[in-house]
Amino acid sequence: MIPTPDLSHLTTKDFDRLYEPAEDTFLLLDALEEDATWLQSNNSRLCLEIGSGSGCVTAMLAKIIGKQNAVYLTTDINPYACKATQQTAKHNGVSLVETLQTSLVGSLLPRLTHSVDVLLFNPPYAVTPPEEVGSNGIEAAWAGGIDGRQVIDALLPFVEKLLSPNGVFYLLLINENHPLEVVDIMKSYHMRAEIVMERRAGRERQYILKIQHEQQ
Ligand SMILES: C[S@@+](CC[C@H](N)C(=O)[O-])C[C@H]1O[C@@H](n2cnc3c(N)ncnc32)[C@H](O)[C@@H]1O
Repeated sequence: MIPTPDLSHLTTKDFDRLYEPAEDTFLLLDALEEDATWLQSNNSRLCLEIGSGSGCVTAMLAKIIGKQNAVYLTTDINPYACKATQQTAKHNGVSLVETLQTSLVGSLLPRLTHSVDVLLFNPPYAVTPPEEVGSNGIEAAWAGGIDGRQVIDALLPFVEKLLSPNGVFYLLLINENHPLEVVDIMKSYHMRAEIVMERRAGRERQYILKIQHEQQ
């Protein structure tokens, strides 16, 4: 069992401004741990987490793949999350982390075309009024708009372009996001998507979708 990254440097005051790891975070950590051997043997060199929040997930990925074995890029729309991700990386001995305050992948795409070996996103997935989407405060952690899919759907068309030939994308979803519809959308981009883990957390049913190029 790989220990959860140490977040003792973050306080309750920090978590007033950025997402505190919760069951969804831990489901994503468990999916990564489950695939640890595969991730280690997949020659993963460039990892990108969108919406890194506290930085807990990227720190876990670095523990699995190796703190010096890959470059870890993260983005978050919330500036406090970017700062916390840097602190968490440092606190857990991961030096190769670059954080960028931007929406989704911002302007990174042309440079990252078919380069990302591991892509991670625990998105804002809650069903909310559409106008709540798009802030860069704490609400950005959950506000997903219609079907909780507005932010998720904005990313899906770029996944095929981002992933390296052996690349993998782990995406957290809940029932209300219609995971099987997301599987079909990814099929239309010639990507294979499967539910690899699911769990109930209170009233939510949470899923991890693992998405790869079809020919893999
Ligand atoms: C559910 S939280 C997950 C945080 C962390 N990855 C975790 O698992 O604990 C979603 C994160 O996505 C960020 N976010 C929301 N919309 C975004 C966007 N358009 N681009 C980048 N990050 C975004 C939020 O600020 C928040 O940190």
